[in-house]
Amino acid sequence: MDFPSAPLPKAGLSHQEVLDRLAALKTNDKQWEEGKVFGLVYDAGKAHHELLRDAMALFEAENGLNVLAFPSIGQMSHDLVRITASLLGADDPRSGGAVTGFLTSGGTESLLQASIVARDHARARGIARPTIVCATSAHAAFTKAAGLFDIEVIRVPVGEDYRVDLAAMEAAIDERTAMLVASAVSYPQGVIDDVTAIAALAESKGLLCHVDGCMGGYFLPFLTELGNCHVPFDFTVSGVTSMSADLHKYGYASKGASVVLYRTPALARHQVFMTEDWLGGFYASTTMAGTKPAGPIAAAWASVMHLGHDGLLQLTRNTYVAARKIIDAVNAHPKLQLRGEPAMSVFAFGAANEAELDIFAVSEVLSRSGWHVDRQRHPDSLHLTVHAGSVKATDAFLADLHAAIEEVGTRRTEDRSTTYATGD
Ligand SMILES: Cc1ncc(COP(=O)(O)O)c(C=O)c1O
Repeated sequence: MDFPSAPLPKAGLSHQEVLDRLAALKTNDKQWEEGKVFGLVYDAGKAHHELLRDAMALFEAENGLNVLAFPSIGQMSHDLVRITASLLGADDPRSGGAVTGFLTSGGTESLLQASIVARDHARARGIARPTIVCATSAHAAFTKAAGLFDIEVIRVPVGEDYRVDLAAMEAAIDERTAMLVASAVSYPQGVIDDVTAIAALAESKGLLCHVDGCMGGYFLPFLTELGNCHVPFDFTVSGVTSMSADLHKYGYASKGASVVLYRTPALARHQVFMTEDWLGGFYASTTMAGTKPAGPIAAAWASVMHLGHDGLLQLTRNTYVAARKIIDAVNAHPKLQLRGEPAMSVFAFGAANEAELDIFAVSEVLSRSGWHVDRQRHPDSLHLTVHAGSVKATDAFLADLHAAIEEVGTRRTEDRSTTYATGD
């Protein structure tokens, strides 16, 4: 994308001019308020966003680096970690009763931190360049971790159900392996890996096992309570040593909040960075950033405190109903095929027969009507993250989807690009 650059003004703009310019900058952005953006924004309604904005504004200036100076930030972080741990089995005796963790800026950072912990845990056992074994469906952040932290990430295939191929995972384990990864759910097809089997495999080999619950961590516990999820995925599973769960996804918090948890304090300690090796005195931090914004922490705290258990349960119920409606319509359409059996509200679908329908041509038509859906390859498919804000748009989406398939017929598009994330 081409961005015309705005020079530094000689005389600063007025308060109102700045706000007007910011509003003008937004004109080409996706209008997520109508529920037409399936992903990127998780919308629990206008009043909820107002609360998040107010909470953010209260902590606009404070610095999350130093909780001695700002104990309020320490308290909120502690509450968020405890609440998340509690949702993910920490109060169950099977967890061992010592689950602990840290607030991070997002899913990627939670996975990066879990990877550093795995690396340093392995190095403490004399493994110089450890490996992490995960499936091709595990989030891209593990590959990012590999590049950043001198870890080798070995990706093994998924089976026809898009879940980790266990035999391939076992075959990839050797004396350098530090950690196995399971997703609950995976981003690309929204399936839950066989957490029990992967964690048991890790345990039998003396390895760590991370469950990436960035997507499912604030959804699956409520879906379980609603009776729509029947597989275990958290610290109640023997062998799970760490987990991540994003507040800024199904916790309906503002961007910049996730939690990474460890089964034991001994493991969590690998995440704490401390040094006196400079002229600035004792320095400690538990995340990638030094100085860090307090606004997202306050907004995340506000979100879960305001929604409470019952609010999150209700949002999960509404979202799940809307997601199933789309999934059922996809299953019923002769030209479409769901990719795998999604466990919650994140899923992908494509053409039942790629010679008869180009799903990317369908996405172009949808995009012209203002819908935002991600595109994936291997195989070509459209990816939807359904959230509470999608509920009001579900019927309109299905009508437009059916119309787009009719309009496209057998026409193909040259553009095979995918759109998970781009940056400047
Ligand atoms: C399963 C999973 N893990 C990790 C992430 C990364 O999260 P973030 O984009 O907050 O860094 C995502 C993002 O969609 C995800 O779906």
